[in-house]
Amino acid sequence: MKPPGIAASFEPVDWNPSGLPDDPDEILDWLIDGKKRGEYYPLLRKLREVAPVYKNRPELFHGAWMFTRFEETDEIFRNQRVVNNPQVIEEAFTHGDGSFTGVMRDVMLWQEPEPHQRVRNLVKSAFTPRAIARWQPIAEMVANDLIDRFEGDDQADLVKQYNYEIPFNVIAHILGIPEEDFPKIREFAWDFARAGEKLVTPEVSKRGDEAARGLVAYFENLAEVRSGIPGDDLMSSLLAAEADGARLSRRELVANCILLLQAGHETTQDLLGNAQVALFRNPDQLAMLRDNHELMKNAVEEFLRYDASVQINHRVVLDGMTIGDIEIPVGGMIYIFLGAINRDPSRYLDPDRLDITRDVTSHLAFSFGAYYCIGASLARIEAAVGIGTLLDRLPDLRPATGEFRWRDTLQLRGPQELVVTW
Ligand code: HEM
Repeated sequence: MKPPGIAASFEPVDWNPSGLPDDPDEILDWLIDGKKRGEYYPLLRKLREVAPVYKNRPELFHGAWMFTRFEETDEIFRNQRVVNNPQVIEEAFTHGDGSFTGVMRDVMLWQEPEPHQRVRNLVKSAFTPRAIARWQPIAEMVANDLIDRFEGDDQADLVKQYNYEIPFNVIAHILGIPEEDFPKIREFAWDFARAGEKLVTPEVSKRGDEAARGLVAYFENLAEVRSGIPGDDLMSSLLAAEADGARLSRRELVANCILLLQAGHETTQDLLGNAQVALFRNPDQLAMLRDNHELMKNAVEEFLRYDASVQINHRVVLDGMTIGDIEIPVGGMIYIFLGAINRDPSRYLDPDRLDITRDVTSHLAFSFGAYYCIGASLARIEAAVGIGTLLDRLPDLRPATGEFRWRDTLQLRGPQELVVTW
């Protein structure tokens, strides 16, 4: 059964409605509760106005400090001793037989600062200009192929038939997975992602563990094959990667291939979906972009600023720190609301307005500092190609009805379904 989601429409949104609570705890209650939330940004705006730095109740978000304004976050992101907390994995994923949790423990994102930095440098070194140059034609081929499949119909659900499929197919090609294996890997990737969600049934957990074992075995085998006969793919580049004399261990290689497969998947799906919603709600911007493709690069930055798919960064303070007059002790938790900061009026003029021509410098959609998204260049290509190909091939693209639904999630934000016609 499909989750109910949050009803929304393509009508212009009132970003500053009356009747929202003024009490920060109550604002957070509304944010968490899909039935009360409605649109997301009016609540973030309210939180930023009444309590831009705010320590919430322990039972809600670990009593974490919450930041919704640009001013403080720059300092937090630059502090090397404010890090992702590996403990989150132990607390969040207590289910199953340990296969899923084992992979999550091994991916760079959730490791202690030392292995994280070393592994990150090695993985990043495989993202060479030569590799990146190959990605645009792959993305174009995938996007055109997907449109070919539904162009002859009356309607399509962009989320399912396009937005979800683009990042999966592109990263699978890039990693060097042979096409005949796509269905199996797609199923593993889906089951793996479900096991990482908030509510996990025993069945979902079991499938997540099976998927984790399946992915580990698959990438171990692919690594074996490519170390014998290297190809022009990311797996071969990762096998060859070397920085300061260090190499990835086979275990690190395999876990981080799984991370690359997963990290760019629903994030990019949601970036595409949020951009489509934003364009449908702003027909003048849609028309401008359709008629002026040279604006695409800038438009993608504005999509990232305007409605980021990753909304929250969690951090833990290792040494304690002072920000303004606030002392955060050793072990203090921090939540940085990236989407709220991307609409901070001290940073962007009229931030609730979508303006694909605006000068969008330094948004936080890909975070900043030690964990800055490794796949940002790929995500940008996929977004530009994904939106550009749609507008080229289906110039009269429009929503099939006046309504759609947001998924009822906080961390990763995007539409649940987007039925369009053309
Ligand atoms: C619109 C698409 C994307 C968005 C919005 C996004 C956003 C982010 C954010 C906010 C982080 C930081 C997480 C943190 O600080 O805890 C991150 C990290 C990461 N992203 Fe992305 N991402 C996207 C696409 C991709 C793609 C396509 C890939 C790879 C193929 C990728 C790979 C990664 C990896 C490996 C990390 C971890 C970096 C580290 O631990 O140092 N992402 N991403």
